[in-house]
Amino acid sequence: MINFRCWFILNNCHRLERQKRPITTKSSFHSLPPQPRHYALHKRTSRSRVHASLTSETARAEEDRNVYLALVTGGLEGVAKASICESLDISNEHVSIVSQPTLAKGLSAGQAGVGKLIISVPESVSLESVVKLKGVQSMYAYLLHSNSVPTCPEGLEYVQTLLARTNRWPQAFTLWRSYFLSQGFDVPALGADTIRFRARCIRDGTHAFTSQDVARRMGSAVQGVWNWPVDLKRYQCEVVGVMLESSFVCGLHLTTLQTSLKGNLPAEKVAHYVAAERRVSLRPSTAFLLLSLARIQPGEIVLDPMAGVGTIPIEAAIHFGARGIGGDLASGAVVQAKENAVEALKLGLIRSSSVEFYEWNTCALPLEDSMADAIVSDLPFGMSCELSKRMYPKAFAEMGRVVKPGGRAVLLMGSRRLLYDSIDMHCWKIMESYYPVNIGGLNACVIVLCKQ
Ligand SMILES: C[S@@+](CC[C@H](N)C(=O)[O-])C[C@H]1O[C@@H](n2cnc3c(N)ncnc32)[C@H](O)[C@@H]1O
Repeated sequence: MINFRCWFILNNCHRLERQKRPITTKSSFHSLPPQPRHYALHKRTSRSRVHASLTSETARAEEDRNVYLALVTGGLEGVAKASICESLDISNEHVSIVSQPTLAKGLSAGQAGVGKLIISVPESVSLESVVKLKGVQSMYAYLLHSNSVPTCPEGLEYVQTLLARTNRWPQAFTLWRSYFLSQGFDVPALGADTIRFRARCIRDGTHAFTSQDVARRMGSAVQGVWNWPVDLKRYQCEVVGVMLESSFVCGLHLTTLQTSLKGNLPAEKVAHYVAAERRVSLRPSTAFLLLSLARIQPGEIVLDPMAGVGTIPIEAAIHFGARGIGGDLASGAVVQAKENAVEALKLGLIRSSSVEFYEWNTCALPLEDSMADAIVSDLPFGMSCELSKRMYPKAFAEMGRVVKPGGRAVLLMGSRRLLYDSIDMHCWKIMESYYPVNIGGLNACVIVLCKQ
């Protein structure tokens, strides 16, 4: 039955093209969006036609605007959106959150569950300011988004058709080229058939095909349009797709190029993180979003009692002008945190007094009562570092002792249940319903508390 539906959709593309609005099959299963005119080399396509699966906000934002795709921590898209609108001074309607498909209960979205934002900015907003946005894991020149990719084998043909026919190629290519020219690379103009490229797909969900199959079809689409040669290692342009069940977004990678072809999300390369063997890592962009949730103000003391290599205190000092204090049970982690802080200092990102790191046990903190304005922490969870359950009540009691009355706590943890089972509700008030988040493919949650 499913195969028949997919067959119907794919074999009726030409009919759909003539429709003014997308049509759905009887069961409103996968419907192919109206196809933009096939893009011919050197020929400008109409800017007015937009992909049907874009939100109306993005559609309104088409004319004379550059469109980007930003990947952010899944579940914290709203926090990232607010921060992006403020940084770029653009209104809410120009940043659209790509909705995540509903997954079967208990199923983790995996890496493809990363948050996706489509950002439309006037051409006057510099590329550099967009690429450097805080709270963003990686940035792309936006190509397409669809919520109706068939999960059956015909989904491959569907993706190839979408990518070959999107009318966003000229704008996305121009953005991509401007970025790499600004980085000192020699990049041919649009239409040259000498650009070495590769296609990559980060895929999760249940599909009748693999990530490599999708990547190959994406590659065929790009070659069909541009005739670029594929070079998996020495590529100049990377076309990246993220597929979660029937949802698919795609863009041209603007930030650091990766050498690995694995289906992982790109790592964040940040100059001030020098520690070679990071045992546990929190993305700096996630740390930034957690600190934004805590509404950190300049001069405030931000404490991370389980700081690992120091990401949260260092980001608090760099981006919020706070004083970051952190510590960890593992002496190796504390050494690495100090090395990272020294590097941030050398790069002129922080002052010498803005961060401090100590070796301690979070259940007996060597700190005075009410010394911190806020606690922001990424608690151990997952297989590799489980904080023993009986330690949680002691850890929360210590956090309650060292934070000021009215102070905030933003905690990233594996499950809410651990918090409810361990926390003294006379001491803490839950401020916001929790945020379910996706951390590198793992299900976790963020909880915002206030000291009573
Ligand atoms: C999820 S990691 C934090 C990662 C950190 N945000 C970073 O950027 O690297 C949790 C950390 O808690 C530390 N930890 C576990 N039990 C602890 C305890 N009782 N006291 C202090 N730190 C502890 C672990 O050593 C680990 O580094």
